[in-house]
Amino acid sequence: MPDMTSPRDLLFAPPGENPPVLLVGAGPGDPDLLTMAAVKALMRAEVVLYDALVGPEILALAPRDAERVCVGKRSGNHSMAQAAINGLLLAKARTGRRVVRLKGGDPLLFGRGGEEMQHLQAHGVAVKVIPGVTAALGCAASAGVPLTHRGLASGVTLHTAHGRDGGLPLGSADLAEHTQVVYMGRDRIGAVAAAMMARGLPPDTPALVIENGTLPQERRCLGTLADIAERAAAELSDGPALIMVGRTVGLMPVLVREMADSGI
Ligand SMILES: C[S@@+](CC[C@H](N)C(=O)[O-])C[C@H]1O[C@@H](n2cnc3c(N)ncnc32)[C@H](O)[C@@H]1O
Repeated sequence: MPDMTSPRDLLFAPPGENPPVLLVGAGPGDPDLLTMAAVKALMRAEVVLYDALVGPEILALAPRDAERVCVGKRSGNHSMAQAAINGLLLAKARTGRRVVRLKGGDPLLFGRGGEEMQHLQAHGVAVKVIPGVTAALGCAASAGVPLTHRGLASGVTLHTAHGRDGGLPLGSADLAEHTQVVYMGRDRIGAVAAAMMARGLPPDTPALVIENGTLPQERRCLGTLADIAERAAAELSDGPALIMVGRTVGLMPVLVREMADSGI
């Protein structure tokens, strides 16, 4: 019996069995940030179900005759409900073809990958996960923001701006201790900043919004909690964006340069 937990065996099923559905992370956008395992999975795919944020260069890695289905959601444009995605995945898996479920960033971080995995497994379909570079890591690297830094941030916290009850779940920890990264907060920057200040972060805490991180059209807007909403509204468009807040954001090279230029 082959050891199916080895990453090298992810693409193969024991003889007579259907291949596992591969839940693959496509990374934050730049195709160079795909893992080798993701590239191999795509190159062997017969069916690819992908999210709206996955770009054409990445999709092009699948064989030309592979079936491609966009099941993605972008705010304001819900192309398919989660239950319908689950049902479609199951139907495709049952055809016995090699199915890749391609999700932006990492499939198990704010991507509902866990629900898709549970659904397939509950119906007897094996699932393997190929991790991806999550947007926080891609954007931090691109902007030159260390997510942790001795003396400034002992950790990093990843939040969604859209909690299950519609609220902003910030947890109970001291926000100043960690770099705070907020996903899906594009249309709630003011509310995010206000909530963080209400929880004790000073208004002059560095804040950065990165739009289309790692892609050629990446844009960054730097400010403080007090003014980041206004600046982002003036400087950014409507691409996917992350909000990063904390003293580590102050280490971003451009800020250091600006401070030096102005004699601070
Ligand atoms: C549904 S979540 C998926 C997160 C993904 N699973 C991950 O690990 O990055 C989508 C959110 O991720 C963030 N995001 C994804 N790609 C991004 C990028 N290239 N630049 C900035 N933010 C991005 C945005 O906050 C976007 O609203």
